[in-house]
Amino acid sequence: MDAVKKAVMDRGAVITAYRRWAPVYDQTFGTVAAAGRRHAVDIMNKRDGSVLEVGVGTGLSLPRYADHLSVTGVDLSPEMLKKAENRIVKNKLQNIDGLHEMDARNLDFDDDKFDTVVAMYVMTVVPEPEVVMEELERVCAPGGQVILVNHFSQDHGTRGWLERRMAPFASTLGWRPIFPVDRVMGCENLELIERRSLRPLGLFTMLRFTKAAAPKIAKGRSRAMVSDSYVSEAVVSQ
Ligand SMILES: C[S@@+](CC[C@H](N)C(=O)[O-])C[C@H]1O[C@@H](n2cnc3c(N)ncnc32)[C@H](O)[C@@H]1O
Repeated sequence: MDAVKKAVMDRGAVITAYRRWAPVYDQTFGTVAAAGRRHAVDIMNKRDGSVLEVGVGTGLSLPRYADHLSVTGVDLSPEMLKKAENRIVKNKLQNIDGLHEMDARNLDFDDDKFDTVVAMYVMTVVPEPEVVMEELERVCAPGGQVILVNHFSQDHGTRGWLERRMAPFASTLGWRPIFPVDRVMGCENLELIERRSLRPLGLFTMLRFTKAAAPKIAKGRSRAMVSDSYVSEAVVSQ
């Protein structure tokens, strides 16, 4: 258990891990995670305006965005960003506003700037995911959407057992095997409107939030509002 507690992701560990991952990312985790990425981008393509992709990585999602969207990407890893830049050039993408080396905990953008903010396979990786959620909320326009695709851990069954065995290796893996969904539910102005299990095997989950059109916050509510009647749950078959 001590080893589990010590395996904290910090900025240096993330940069080191993704320096190692960058050359092989697309052929390894990039492939495993393709269905969730496709699903999230297809949702965004039905929306208008600007998109901020936080933790854009090697830019695997970038060629899939529809032309009418203007997309900005940020990431902590220069090596991952370099791959993303090469992809933009290779695919002659015209709708990418810019890529920036930036920490998701401290986004260098004005409040309310983007119509959609997305983080795919990022929240289990970032140091201080609660701080990152606050930043995603801050830069999202009122009435806009924040979309997460992520692995959330279970505390039961074979999967829970495996996640606990893997937990001490978080720094080496570059992500935390133990990551309960509660850690992304704390934003006062984000309301959960969709929760969907994704392939492969429901290992990943998409969460879609809307940001309140005007800051509301009844005192005492400190978690994203989840209303059962509002949340759809399904396994994506694509
Ligand atoms: C598992 S990869 C996901 C990449 C991409 N979103 C995808 O779908 O393939 C996680 C990415 O998050 C980035 N990352 C981790 N911590 C970050 C932070 N604090 N700020 C910005 N990016 C971060 C890593 O550098 C890495 O590129």
